[in-house]
Amino acid sequence: MKDENKYTRRNFVGTIGLATGGLCLLPLAVSCKSDASQKSISAGKNISKDFNADVDIQLKAEKSNTKIVSSGTADTYSYRASLYKGAKSTLQELEGSSLGPIIRVKKGNKVRIRFENEIPEKSIIHWHGLHVSHENDGHPEYVIGNGETYFYEFEVMNSAGMYWFHPHPHRTTGEQVYKGLAGLFIVEDDEEKALNLPTGDYDIPVVIQDRTFDESGQLVYLPNGKMDRMRGFLGNQILINGKIDNTLSLNKDGKYRLRLLNGSNSRAYKLAWDTGEPLTVFGVDGGLLQKHKTLPYLLLGPAQRVDVWLDLTNKNENEEIKLIHLPIPLDAMMGDGMMDDGMMGNASDNALPYNSQFDILSIKVGVSKKNEASLPETLSRISPLKLTDAINRNTPRTFNFGMENMMEWTINGRTYEGMQVADDEIVKLNTTEIWRINNGGNTTSAAGNDGGGMMGMHGNGGMMGNGGGMGNMMQMPHPVHIHQLQFNIVNRNIDNIDQNLWNAVKDGFINEGWQDSVYLLPGMYMDLVMRFEDFKGLFLYHCHNLEHEDMGMMRNFKIE
Ligand code: C2O
Ligand code: CU
Ligand code: CU
Repeated sequence: MKDENKYTRRNFVGTIGLATGGLCLLPLAVSCKSDASQKSISAGKNISKDFNADVDIQLKAEKSNTKIVSSGTADTYSYRASLYKGAKSTLQELEGSSLGPIIRVKKGNKVRIRFENEIPEKSIIHWHGLHVSHENDGHPEYVIGNGETYFYEFEVMNSAGMYWFHPHPHRTTGEQVYKGLAGLFIVEDDEEKALNLPTGDYDIPVVIQDRTFDESGQLVYLPNGKMDRMRGFLGNQILINGKIDNTLSLNKDGKYRLRLLNGSNSRAYKLAWDTGEPLTVFGVDGGLLQKHKTLPYLLLGPAQRVDVWLDLTNKNENEEIKLIHLPIPLDAMMGDGMMDDGMMGNASDNALPYNSQFDILSIKVGVSKKNEASLPETLSRISPLKLTDAINRNTPRTFNFGMENMMEWTINGRTYEGMQVADDEIVKLNTTEIWRINNGGNTTSAAGNDGGGMMGMHGNGGMMGNGGGMGNMMQMPHPVHIHQLQFNIVNRNIDNIDQNLWNAVKDGFINEGWQDSVYLLPGMYMDLVMRFEDFKGLFLYHCHNLEHEDMGMMRNFKIE
């Protein structure tokens, strides 16, 4: 809203050669035929003439320099957007930040994004949380090199909510996101519009990330190499919307919608108000909850989003309210207990310890200014998926997130294999399934997973056991994410979880609503119910600890 005129509006006809023809010019023409029978929406190396875009954006990834800390300027990457077509409010920059932009569209809009890669390495964009076709999903095998363009063309089918976009090249996603490549994709729809929720200056995105800087102000990424990678990056400072200044000046008597995204590479947060007041959450990854929830604190894993209601009616002018991180006893799993002391590098970096309290966001209450907005009893009328509709209700498709060969993070014993998909990763279009994602060794019905010959190698072995010794070093939280769809959480099993850890986080989960990312603790398994609709093809599911993902804790599932 503030900075719209930074975007140039151009007439795009003629600025880019309109190539005609095939959808099958993709780097690897997987399932072109089957997808052509789906919604007639394409993507890839060409613009399709018959795609009448409502919103048309040029999005460049380029090198940038950003002064984040006072000691110097960091070499960063940024997405820079220009609007070819669409309402002025479509693009909003995050001022002074390498992050952004915020793209705002309406459900039903046809969106074309011309992604131009101008960074000196391969990249591709993934639209995290969006229900789009294979070609529009940003598969790592579709990376483009410097100077190349990838055209996305899709219809926005998701409900109102905050989605996001980031690079998805295999092995380098973590570093590219770390350097600044991430933006927000906000969807609006009529259902939400009718609710009288806060809008404009009262609707505030808050991207939370952790970073580490050296004395010259440069970003430091994985100083201890492989050992840091095994754990995932953990920084020593919190950035809000890409900036070190975490203060928001808001109006007394204002009613706010804070849209939080945990955009960190691997860190989770246990968020609470320092006033001791509960958090009121009314939306999650895939949009509004049916009813809002109040929680004493909230556990927000990487890639997760929530809408937080903030009413400053009873606050005083000049009062300061803080959103803080509360201690979680996770440090042992992040290094201390994983190897002999020092080997994981935990001792040599100065990452913010999980088991400490630190500030996330500071809210300064200014002069009084009321806005008309309210939090209604019923927010969304979309009913969740029914367990009884699942074709595998009693035999969930099981995915074990763990470690193989001592130093490899795996899913069912496997790592990323390009376009490969295993028998037990193939599902049917227009079916509903239960997936059991497991981070704790044994599950009661691993029998549900009957494909592939890998099962004997894991799941029951001592490698993933819960008892001390080697068991501990195999267990870390895994923020699990599934592409292409939004699921509902059926249950969370905690039989094998460490009691200390559980006691510290148990009241911070939201099991309601539509989600695409969950924080799977060591010893926990979760059953998720999901439906495969509209698009056939390959889609990813993976750990959203970006270092784990880059090491290969990522697989395809195929809808056919
Ligand atoms: Cu946000 Cu496949 O990731
Ligand atoms: Cu995703
Ligand atoms: Cu992981």
